[in-house]
Amino acid sequence: MMKSEEIRKLFLDYFKARGHKILPSSSLIPIDDHSVLLTTAGMQQFKKYYTREKDPIKDFGTQRTATIQKCFRTTDIEEIGDETHLTFFEMLGNFSFGPVGKDDPQNFGSDGYFKRAAIYWAYEFIKNLDLEIDYVTVFGGERDVPFDEESYKIWKEVGFSEEKILKKGREDNFWGPTGDEGPCGPTTEIYVNNVEIWNLVFNEYYQDKNGNLKKLEFPGVDTGMGFERLMKVSQNVPTIFETDFFQPLKEVLDQLTNKDDIRRKRIVLDHIRGSVFLIADGLYPSNLERGYVLRRILRRLTLNLKFLDIKIEKIENMIKAVIEKYSPFYPELKNYDKIKTVIFEEIINFERTLNIGLREFEKTIKGNENDEILAEKLFLLYTSYGLPLEISKELLKDNGLGWTEKSQQVFDELFKKHQEISKGRISELAS
Ligand code: ALA
Repeated sequence: MMKSEEIRKLFLDYFKARGHKILPSSSLIPIDDHSVLLTTAGMQQFKKYYTREKDPIKDFGTQRTATIQKCFRTTDIEEIGDETHLTFFEMLGNFSFGPVGKDDPQNFGSDGYFKRAAIYWAYEFIKNLDLEIDYVTVFGGERDVPFDEESYKIWKEVGFSEEKILKKGREDNFWGPTGDEGPCGPTTEIYVNNVEIWNLVFNEYYQDKNGNLKKLEFPGVDTGMGFERLMKVSQNVPTIFETDFFQPLKEVLDQLTNKDDIRRKRIVLDHIRGSVFLIADGLYPSNLERGYVLRRILRRLTLNLKFLDIKIEKIENMIKAVIEKYSPFYPELKNYDKIKTVIFEEIINFERTLNIGLREFEKTIKGNENDEILAEKLFLLYTSYGLPLEISKELLKDNGLGWTEKSQQVFDELFKKHQEISKGRISELAS
């Protein structure tokens, strides 16, 4: 069984040998891209090379790059705890910026490549890992973007029968842009053991803020292979949480609790790892934008540690386990003291609120409220005891209670009124 450390090296060596400049992951906090809160994909640090605002030859000496990128996605934050979702993950990617030269897998030079080289290399890399591709998908055409016949033909040439090349629409096989504008295009995706492991994006378009697509001057390649998913299929384990990324961390966690709540344990594993990486990149918990993402996962971590009966002091070894696993590849993780201090301070601060909030929650929520009364009660818990709505919602779920759109609407209205009153008070005081 191959370890993730070996695959890390194999991937970078494979693309280095094919003319790619190997670059470090960029920070989780995007440097000059205000369209997104956090880095969510490998291509983000290269956006300006696709649009030619920057010149890859000048900066890298080649039109090809490869990275293993740290990513953080918040869209599925509520799903964490199931078998497949993560906030933080790594993505293996190779990239090509136009103009396209000789698009041939035997071309190990430094010119731009496109669909043929990208598909052949992905296929060969997977084969070299002794994995078998079940099937692939290509863009079948939708609205103003035509069927990607070229990718379809290349997969046939590689040896795939027509039943193994599925045609999909925009929902599945069109990627990007990140944020509200940027490069994007049709994709071809590779499935192993029914897991989508590699997404090959052919950046042929630029989508503007109004959603209009225009052709990029030169098309480019942007691929992303989810590292945890790849290791799940490569190490042939039931879920990503049994891969060697989580194993050392999981061993520490299992020693800290007798409880057998898998969902909560997965939340702890994901949120500890994610917060360590966010803090290492310079983020502090706050009530604003990206700082709030960190605050939110640390609060959720606090809640789940509490239900697993784990004392905050005990998580030190989990933080250490993350750092030990990843610091050979991410030197920014070496600052253990700072990372630990930020996590501990936030958890300790929130613990007080949580303890009171939990007590009040149990006292007030009877389980038979209608949508409006429930919203009013949670609003009161928020204004009187500081218990955040997302935590209350999680407690509802634990108690088998639902939270409807109607409840959310009532909560939002109360919140708005509350803000107006506070604003009024401040201006009264000021006048
Ligand atoms: N940018 C593409 C993705 O994130 C590869 O899936």
